[in-house]
Amino acid sequence: MSLLQTLWSYVYPITLQQKTTAANGLLELVLYQGKKMLNSPKANYSYGSLQRVFELALENHPPQFKVNQRVLILGFGAGSIQKVLLEAHHFTGTVTGVEYDKELTEWVRPHFEKYFDNVTLEHCDALSFLEKNKNPFDFIFVDLFCDLKCAPVCFEGNFYSLLKQNLLPNGCLYHNTMGSTKQLGFIKQQYQQQFGNLRSQQFLGSNTVFYGRA
Ligand SMILES: C[S@@+](CC[C@H](N)C(=O)[O-])C[C@H]1O[C@@H](n2cnc3c(N)ncnc32)[C@H](O)[C@@H]1O
Repeated sequence: MSLLQTLWSYVYPITLQQKTTAANGLLELVLYQGKKMLNSPKANYSYGSLQRVFELALENHPPQFKVNQRVLILGFGAGSIQKVLLEAHHFTGTVTGVEYDKELTEWVRPHFEKYFDNVTLEHCDALSFLEKNKNPFDFIFVDLFCDLKCAPVCFEGNFYSLLKQNLLPNGCLYHNTMGSTKQLGFIKQQYQQQFGNLRSQQFLGSNTVFYGRA
């Protein structure tokens, strides 16, 4: 990354690399305002507006982390939720990241290495992970997308009962979503059934984050 590229990136985003993966199709590593980020064709996946959504969600609902807690990130992508946890919230516990696109993580990891350090990465489908996992978490962050759309798994009824099963008593969940009124209505209904005490908030005009407590 040259100085000229960095300066130019404040005027216009620069594509540094492109990769097509079987799971996600075309992905781009972009330099924008001096920062590297990962984009799908229509959405920011990591380190841009996606990171901002979680920064805002956690500012509005601070997670109250304690020592030795366990976090699960479903849809690890390039790790920008991990960046928010480490740098804005000084999280010191353990992190498991679930990401079904192994090609993506292998490609981006050298660019964001410090946010992969100390993360246990599971390259599998989020639903299968929840079905098999026997060790529940203190916090679950759900960030499952296919480009601009919530991943199909978010519209499976048993996903929400599995999320609850995978949370410790008093555990907290943050779920970033985008979608039509009907889709968001479905997700809201699932959370109401499982968690009762549901809250949600809209950020950046397009994303709705649902909060649940087991
Ligand atoms: C917006 S990106 C995640 C960004 C990431 N949370 C971060 O902090 O940088 C959405 C991710 O969900 C992953 N994904 C979509 N459906 C999935 C599934 N069923 N199981 C696991 N990962 C999935 C995609 O491969 C993509 O990397």
